[in-house]
Amino acid sequence: MKKIAVLTSGGDAPGMNAAIRAVVRTAIYNGLEVYGIYGGYRGLIEGNIKELKVGDVGNIINRGGTFLFSARLPEFANPEVRKVAIQKLEELGIEGLVVIGGDGSYRGAMALSNEMSIKTIGVPGTIDNDICGTDFTIGFDTALNTIIDAIDKIRDTASSHERTFIIEVMGRNAGDLALLAGIAGGSESILIPEKLEDISEVIDRVHRAEARGKKHSIIVLAEGVMSAPELAKIMKEKYNEDAHCTILGHIQRGGRPSAMDRVLASRLGNYAVQLLLAGESGRAVGIQNNRLVSTKFEDVFEDEHTVDLEVYEASKQLSI
Ligand code: F6P
Repeated sequence: MKKIAVLTSGGDAPGMNAAIRAVVRTAIYNGLEVYGIYGGYRGLIEGNIKELKVGDVGNIINRGGTFLFSARLPEFANPEVRKVAIQKLEELGIEGLVVIGGDGSYRGAMALSNEMSIKTIGVPGTIDNDICGTDFTIGFDTALNTIIDAIDKIRDTASSHERTFIIEVMGRNAGDLALLAGIAGGSESILIPEKLEDISEVIDRVHRAEARGKKHSIIVLAEGVMSAPELAKIMKEKYNEDAHCTILGHIQRGGRPSAMDRVLASRLGNYAVQLLLAGESGRAVGIQNNRLVSTKFEDVFEDEHTVDLEVYEASKQLSI
């Protein structure tokens, strides 16, 4: 193998730059040429590809976002569109491709790996932590810390004004961000899609806190359950309970990656290239019990990601 390429795809995540850096440096260390594909799969079909040198990935380990840019390209599900992508890679003589992204990006990578001889490895980059085959995805830890920062600030004003706040966090259909943020933020209630709770229980907890003399409450709501305004409406109309809403939104995707995300991204990026050098393809790298592992794309999709329900049960006992 002489030439590989790397792209980032889907929603960006802090630590993607560190992963690109690791791919580029590992490739060059091992005598490979490495190309950056700018703008995800769209950039690939448009041929927006440039060779990267060691210096091109200097000073990026600490930066959020992805300097290779990212995009969502639903058209990539179309085999005709993928044909163009394969042609572009072949024209450049690229023999290996590293795709850094989430679920949708992996589906594109799996399809490519089944249709071409170019070897393909996935690296999990998404704040949602919703990918099977890895305990953590790149960006999750940073997003979690961003949410905690916000919860701490909202708690101050919630406490001063004796208010109930609903804080809506990202995660698509996964409750990982909400669950861990709810625990670390000392919230009264955590609502996740994996374990739907009756709103009456949320109201009971608000009342129990009030009875203990605590006049403010924090409810952490995963976006996969419903929106914060929807929950506030139910609370008002059904239980006459007022709540303020904060939707954290894309602030959760930005910012300097945490040390944990930088290290995770560096290890996974390095491992992805090691696998290509070993002739592997059609696999996603991950970390399990602090050991690097790889899983066939098919197996990643066979299992359904679920939040750790033991952690959820523990959280219940902490917010009595
Ligand atoms: O997958 C990452 C994520 O940030 C989800 O948490 C969220 O639902 C989605 O992307 C938002 O996507 P977009 O930036 O395209 O609106």
